[in-house]
Amino acid sequence: MKVIAFHVQHDAGVSVSDGGSLRLALELERLFEERYFECATEGGEFRAQWSRALDVVRRETGLERFDVAVTSWVPPSKRRILQQLVEAAAWRTVDHHVAHALHGLHDAPFDDPLVVSFDGGGTDGTFRVFRGSRRLGTLAPVARVPLNLGTPYRLLATTMSEVTGRRPQPRAGHLSLAGKLMAYAALAPPRHDWLDALIEYYRTYQEPSQALFSLGEALHLELEADSLSPDDSRALAATSQAAFESLLLETIRAQLAGVKADGLVLTGGCALNVVANERVRKTLGLPIHVPPAPNDAGISVGALWSVSPPVEAVTPFVGPELVCDVGDRSLRERGGRKSDVAKVASLVQRGAVVGIAQGRAELGPRALGHRSIVAAPDRPELRERINARIKSREWYRPAAPAVLESAAHRFFEEIPRSPYMSFAVPVRDAAKALLAGAVHVDGTARVQTVDDPTSVLGSLLVALERMGAPPCVLNTSFNVQSRPLLQRASAALEALDTTELDFAWIDGWLVPRDAEVDRRFEEDA
Ligand SMILES: [Fe+2]
Repeated sequence: MKVIAFHVQHDAGVSVSDGGSLRLALELERLFEERYFECATEGGEFRAQWSRALDVVRRETGLERFDVAVTSWVPPSKRRILQQLVEAAAWRTVDHHVAHALHGLHDAPFDDPLVVSFDGGGTDGTFRVFRGSRRLGTLAPVARVPLNLGTPYRLLATTMSEVTGRRPQPRAGHLSLAGKLMAYAALAPPRHDWLDALIEYYRTYQEPSQALFSLGEALHLELEADSLSPDDSRALAATSQAAFESLLLETIRAQLAGVKADGLVLTGGCALNVVANERVRKTLGLPIHVPPAPNDAGISVGALWSVSPPVEAVTPFVGPELVCDVGDRSLRERGGRKSDVAKVASLVQRGAVVGIAQGRAELGPRALGHRSIVAAPDRPELRERINARIKSREWYRPAAPAVLESAAHRFFEEIPRSPYMSFAVPVRDAAKALLAGAVHVDGTARVQTVDDPTSVLGSLLVALERMGAPPCVLNTSFNVQSRPLLQRASAALEALDTTELDFAWIDGWLVPRDAEVDRRFEEDA
């Protein structure tokens, strides 16, 4: 059976499967080079966007006609446009959290998990709980909890100029604020005298102005755009994170009572909160899995699986191929040459910051080695350079370490399987110097464990180990100026031209920033 599935709200995407095999998951933000891409509300523009996206689908999969098309939260007028653009024998719809949950269930290594999907809002609420069975391919609804942890979390960041950068915000705050706030919340301890008011804030959240006003009254703070002092901002961010974790734990505990589950799947946009995920994992002592795209980038994949569950192990490298829009001659003219992974490993060991763009893109917001910037993990100045002069982002944003799964226990006290950087795990004291560039201010790191030594990242880690270095690199997404993960070879060259990236390794071609950088690292060799 050939199936196509659409998501048109923020983090829009389209996925295609054939006989239960996932052929493509295309995030429209990569195609239109605009993070969190949301499709146009105007019909003509919507049609033009989807014509372009469907061209990519045809080119990447060769499929033109489908047995079933699935939409999730697509307004009727937009659904009619899709029905004009795509030939499918039947059209179905699926609820938002059901799609989140199916993406999580089929990606997880569990047979009978409890699946928790929570975010800032879908067609079916903000917090849903399911029982999943992978063997039977079923997902049974258990509870719909009246709790919104997503919108009020990022809303608070609108009061903090160190998080907003004083940029004007939409009413509930831009989607990018949530990830920044999570990193920022580690800068100060929570204020215990504020905790009850924050818990009440989440429990009673209705809409932005009511929520900020009531919380401001309770805490004797003026909560308006960029109104807080840095001290109050940091304390409020930390206390909000503590309240988020406490409510999440309380709710999951209640749902788990009397239930026999072999694992817990956390999905929905709030499952990107790696600090909360770690607290749930440590407190409940249950294995936890978070899929590669718990945010809405995973909706079209889950929607696909509501019709035709996957028949094989799922890989995150289901995005489109890198667009090779630069000829070999141009690459050679700017100092490029074909190089293997051992060469990249040796540059990384000598302190180079290297952007990797190879093969099919990874699904979801985390760079997993096909669109990654990598660097040695033991030099904080490299993380600072990446934040300030390559990615132009806030100084307090951490960079994750990627480690070979077999070696992870050397760096971390008690390490879960974490293929998609889903947990902020405490770093061993003895490893803090080795991971000096990757340890966040709270002593944790958002580790990615790499179990396939033949993958791009895995082979880089193996090469480092062969050279006598720890099998670990800083790994952050290969994007600049708040754009999405890059998708064109020419965009990797633009990053070399406009930032302090040292090298780009593009489809096997190693290209230096300039002749001086090339000479410096060659002399070091
Ligand atoms: Fe969602």
